Amino acid sequence: MSPYAHITGWGMAVPAKVLTNEDLEKMVDTNDEWIQSRTGIRERHIVNDEESTASLAKDAALNALRVANLNPTEVELIIVSTSSPEHIFPATACLVQDQIGASHAGAFDLLAACSGFIYALNMATQAIRSGSVKNALVIGAETLSRFVNWEDRNTCVLFGDGAGAFVLQSGDEPGGVLSAVMRSDGSGANLLTVPAGGSHLPTSSETILHKQHTIHMNGREVFRFATRVMAQATKEVIAAAQLQIEDIQLVIPHQANLRIIEAAMRGLDIPKDQCFINIERYGNTSTASIPIATCEAIQQGRLHSGDNTVFVGFGAGLTWGAALVRWSGPFLPYRHIYPASYRLWVAIRSKLLRMVRRIEGWIWGRNI
Ligand code: COA
Repeated sequence: MSPYAHITGWGMAVPAKVLTNEDLEKMVDTNDEWIQSRTGIRERHIVNDEESTASLAKDAALNALRVANLNPTEVELIIVSTSSPEHIFPATACLVQDQIGASHAGAFDLLAACSGFIYALNMATQAIRSGSVKNALVIGAETLSRFVNWEDRNTCVLFGDGAGAFVLQSGDEPGGVLSAVMRSDGSGANLLTVPAGGSHLPTSSETILHKQHTIHMNGREVFRFATRVMAQATKEVIAAAQLQIEDIQLVIPHQANLRIIEAAMRGLDIPKDQCFINIERYGNTSTASIPIATCEAIQQGRLHSGDNTVFVGFGAGLTWGAALVRWSGPFLPYRHIYPASYRLWVAIRSKLLRMVRRIEGWIWGRNI
């Protein structure tokens, strides 16, 4: 029988700097009342010049490894879901792999916008269930503040920065990620996009002048799409796990807009107190919103061992999806591991590897 993929660790990281609605009032023609009533957002966290998607992802990953009591060298797969990667390439996941010292892990990025964490969770689950890996790190990390047009009130009030991570581990007891659905509809690609900077529209003075490296969004259309697919994906993933809506203890939705979440819960006939919401303090952190919300749900005692939980999200692409998890919690700790203490060793290791590469270049370079 194929093993189950249990979530045994979770962690989050958000920048210290907070941008409130009152701060935004000084930047664009908006006000706290409008933002709160239309979106549910009160404030969001924004990176400073030293922080980036990889630094947030690394911090979230180390926190998750600490909960799972897992040594970074035991991680075999790292998936970073992000729409705001450190570079076009190399993958942000490889930078995280180096920074946490996961010396036995394959690492890649996955881009499915705000649905990305659900896609990544499903990919890592399949890798575990097939027996190809035993331990995986799934990270959702974003710094969308770097891609926001701070003069566009339609979008700049919505997004925030942050990262969340899960450790997935193979186990024989039934539980963990039981089912997942992933869907897409590229005919809506133009509804939410950063138009330039890729192969279609490479960077030029024109693209910079017309702010085509920032987020462009048709808010009303995205809103209509989101309310429709959230309920649909939730029903599908519950049916795929052969459960009923009544069997679900908690829904953790993508935190994009309070009104979208409320409409979806009404459509499902799920009471609001069975749904976890923290959008007021983080805004839309895209693919990071579900793992961040999960960390806070655990902190607040909202998730218990054995609970059936649905993660559901939507985003650019268009993409949407859901995952159903039977919560198992961390495996019993039988050792004491402090992944953060690897930092010094990991930095030395990375420098040594670079040095060895350079020496090899000197010795062999002339003969190639
Ligand atoms: N402050 C004040 N007024 C604003 C504003 C702001 N920050 N942003 C837009 N407005 C104005 C609009 O210009 C418009 O004015 P007009 O009627 O004079 O043109 C008015 O408010 C209403 O705009 P509308 O688009 O109808 O508002 P809305 O109720 O649909 O809310 C969103 C706008 C963006 C909050 C909403 O459409 C939304 O959340 N959509 C989904 C976006 C999303 O989730 N994206 C991420 C997907 S992962």
